[in-house]
Amino acid sequence: MKQPYLHLLELIENELSSIEKTLEVKLQWICDTLCERLPNYDWTGFYFHQSDKDELYLKAFCGEPTEHTHIPFGKGICGQVALSNQTFLVPDVSLQDNYISCGISVKSEVVVPIFVKGKNIGQIDIDSHVKNAFDHNDVVFLEKVAQMVGGLY
Ligand code: SME
Repeated sequence: MKQPYLHLLELIENELSSIEKTLEVKLQWICDTLCERLPNYDWTGFYFHQSDKDELYLKAFCGEPTEHTHIPFGKGICGQVALSNQTFLVPDVSLQDNYISCGISVKSEVVVPIFVKGKNIGQIDIDSHVKNAFDHNDVVFLEKVAQMVGGLY
């Protein structure tokens, strides 16, 4: 994996190993750090599965506040990932039918599921103001971050 992803993984690993910090603080730290250090990451958030219904809720984010704090399974890119259990890379959001817009400035998106013991419990969602902002390096990096976050549960 290339820099700066490798370096970021080290920082994240270090942050997540803290025994004093809460899960909320750690998730917020990841959002803030990714937005700050990776130029194309304009919005970074964590959605998790609501235990009693087929819905995702927003637990931490960095970037413009969104009204989409709850997303039903199957709706939008996030809702589709909740059902498919697979990373969804969207180079151009304008070409997606089942897409929930969080603002006209968003041009591309990537959503990566988080697993705990093989069960999809949530996801990392990244939006960019640039088309084609994400590639295989981002997917590998984010899947590694998702694995580390899954390890906290
Ligand atoms: N675009 C997402 C909705 C969440 S926002 O990106 C913050 C989707 O289609 O599911």
